[in-house]
Formats: sequence, structure tokens, C-alpha cells
Amino acid sequence: MKSDFIILLIAGICLYQTSAAQQLDVPFVATPPEVVEEMLNLAGVGPGDYVIDLGSGDGRIVIAAAKRGAVGHGVDLDPELVEESIKNAREAGVDDRVSFRVENVYETDYTMATVITMYLLTSINVNLKPHFLKKLKPGTRIVSHIFDMRNWQPDRREQVNYHNIYYWIIPANVEGEWHWKSDQQPVIMSIAQTFQKITDISIHNNALQDDEWNIREATINGDRITIIAENDNGTTRHIYNGSVDKDIISGTVQIHEETGSQLKTWEARRKSTIQH
Ligand SMILES: C[S@@+](CC[C@H](N)C(=O)[O-])C[C@H]1O[C@@H](n2cnc3c(N)ncnc32)[C@H](O)[C@@H]1O
Repeated sequence: MKSDFIILLIAGICLYQTSAAQQLDVPFVATPPEVVEEMLNLAGVGPGDYVIDLGSGDGRIVIAAAKRGAVGHGVDLDPELVEESIKNAREAGVDDRVSFRVENVYETDYTMATVITMYLLTSINVNLKPHFLKKLKPGTRIVSHIFDMRNWQPDRREQVNYHNIYYWIIPANVEGEWHWKSDQQPVIMSIAQTFQKITDISIHNNALQDDEWNIREATINGDRITIIAENDNGTTRHIYNGSVDKDIISGTVQIHEETGSQLKTWEARRKSTIQH
């Protein structure tokens, strides 16, 4: 089918040369307009976003993002495509909202992006993955046309006319041991994490590690963390909601007891991280 053909076309050829004889990791193959729109829909691109397309080709994704009110930036190793993108942006009337640069995706500073788009190859995505996870702010969205990131499962996946689109949200790093006080009593929470999934979590009411809470739910969404914990007999339920800023989580805890419910502020501090 069409997408299979494109994969073969891209994956089957090893070396590509731009007019300036620079080696491309992948040739120019344009994302169809309906796929571009769905990529931007999936990431919810709009005003306030800064969209960077890695390997921007003729500029179509960056230009489409700018038409939605975002600011866009494209990098491509092929100077002719960069020239063409600048011309296309001018014709589309969005040249005041976009910029393009001849640059290798491995050298691009994308730390300011709120959204990254890509139509490269799985191998390139996988090479970029550790840099994304290290450098991008939690909550930054990544959309990739056709190619995934192997063991980093996408948060969402869609198909448009047989074209796969993958969507990830950069998760906050919450691994380690977190401490706070509840009614003057120390509470200790330990978290293990793989990408956006909390793989293990425990909450204890004191340093002796007895009185462990049953965790009903524990999720990370960008910089947000939500945990639902219940005591052993299910008479007390705590719902923690917070935003993670490096080693501090701040937010609220809803406390539901047989006698009633209350909302309190919640601030947890990371005391140690797990070394891999
Ligand atoms: C499959 S095309 C995608 C174009 C555009 N993003 C789209 O979706 O229509 C990949 C683009 O990446 C560019 N490219 C390949 N290797 C690159 C590299 N190492 N750094 C920057 N751009 C690269 C190619 O010139 C090409 O325009």
C-alpha cells in the first residue's frame, strides 16, 4: 500500500546527496496535506505553540502550523528545500511567523519547542530519543509520520489513509523517593518509571515502612502526576494531583473519608533518585 511503498522508498536507499553534496539521512518525501492536518490536530497545535519540524522538506508542516497561529521553525540539510520553504511561506502569507535553516537535525537546538514534528526514520527517531527525553520540557509534544520510537510506546496513534501517525508527550521524570508530611507525620513515596509509565509505586505513612497504601491509579501526563491511594479497608481515599518541577511536586490532595471530604495543598520533595 501507499505507506508501505514510502517506507520501502525511504528505507531501501542508503545514501542521498543534496545539491551541496551533503549527505542526507533520508530523502525528501512530502507528507500528504491530510496527514499534515491530522498530525497538527493530534498535537492540538494552535496559537502559543512553537513547532519545529526536523527535516522540514518544502516547509509544509511548519507553514500549516503557522496558519493555525503557531510560530514555526524548520531545519533541513538540503539548502534548495530551505530556499523553497522560504518561498512557500511567503506565498502562504505566513513568512512573519516562520523561519527555516539549513541544519542537521542532530545539531538542532529544539529545547524551546512546544511541538516537534518529524518524518524521518525509526533509526533517526531512536537516536534522537534520549536527547528529547533529556532536553525537552515535560509536556512537549512529539508527532511522527510513519516511524515510531521502538520501545517508547506512543501516547496515541492514528491512521490517515494507511499512514500511521505517532504521538508522544514528554513525561516529567518522577523516579526516586519523595517525602512530605501529612498531619505532621512523614509520608514516603517511591516511584519507578519507564518513559511515561509509572511501573512501580509505594506510599508509606512513616519511615518504618509499615502502613502501606493501596495504589489504585498512578499516571504521568507531561508535568502532571495523579495518584489515587486507598487505605487497607478502603475507608479513606487520597487523590493527589500535582505538577512536577524538577525535585518538587506541588498540587493538591483530596481526602475522602467516611466522615467527609477535604482538599489540602500537597508538596512533595524528592530525596533521592534511582540510578540506572
Ligand atoms: C521524508 S522528508 C520529510 C519532509 C517534511 N517534514 C514532510 O513531512 O513533508 C525528510 C527530510 O529530511 C531531510 N533530511 C534528511 N536528513 C537530514 C538531516 N540529517 N538533517 C536535516 N534534515 C535532513 C531531507 O532533506 C528531507 O527533506
